[in-house]
Amino acid sequence: MAAKRIGIVVGSIRKGAYTKKIADFLIAHTPEGYQLELIEIADLPLYNQDYDTSGSPAVYDDFRQKVKAVAGIIFITPEHNRSIPAALKNALDVASRPYGKNVWNAKPAMVISSSISGISGFGANHHLRQVLTFLNMPTLQQPEVYLANVQDYFDDNGQLVNKETAAFLLEALDAYISFAAKF
Ligand SMILES: Cc1cc2nc3c(=O)[nH]c(=O)nc-3n(C[C@H](O)[C@H](O)[C@H](O)COP(=O)(O)O)c2cc1C
Repeated sequence: MAAKRIGIVVGSIRKGAYTKKIADFLIAHTPEGYQLELIEIADLPLYNQDYDTSGSPAVYDDFRQKVKAVAGIIFITPEHNRSIPAALKNALDVASRPYGKNVWNAKPAMVISSSISGISGFGANHHLRQVLTFLNMPTLQQPEVYLANVQDYFDDNGQLVNKETAAFLLEALDAYISFAAKF
C-alpha cells in the first residue's frame, strides 16, 4: 500500500531555523506507512486578492497542488512579535484562495511552536489555531506542543540531542498520526 503523505509546513524561512531542525527530526522518525514531506513557503510572493481574478504566480499553483496532495499538515512555527511569522500567514492565505477553493479544507493538522525564550511560542501557537479554525482544519488538541529555549536542544550538527524533548515530540507525532487516521 502507498505511504500516507503528511506535509510539514515550517513557519521560519531563515537558514538554520530551529523549527526546520525540528522538522528534520520528525522526518528522520517517520512512522511506518507514512511519508512526511516538507512543503516550502519561502518563495511565495505576497498574496494579493487581484491574483484571484487576473491570474496568480505559477508558484502558487505548485504550492496549492502540494497542499492538496497530502492527507494532513504538521505546522512547526516560531513566534514573531507574539504571533506567527508573516511568511506563514502568507502561505495560509495563498492556499485558502480563490474563494471556495481552500485546499487546506478538512485536512487534519498539528501545531508545534518553539522559541528561544521561555514563552515557547504560545502566542504564535494560538494565533495559528485561530486561523486553522477558519480554514476548517481539525487540529490535534492534546498534547499541546510548546518548546521553550529551543536553542539548547541541538548539537553543533543540528541534531536534536535533548532526550526528553525527542521523546515528547515522538509521543506527540504518534498522537497526531492516530488523530489524523480518523479523517
Ligand atoms: C521579527 C522577530 C520577532 C520575534 N518575536 C518573538 C516573540 O514574540 N517571542 C519569542 O519568544 N521570540 C521571538 N523572536 C525570537 C525567535 O524566537 C527566534 O528568532 C527563533 O530562533 C525563531 O525561530 P527559528 O529559529 O525557527 O527561525 C522573534 C524573532 C524575530 C526575528
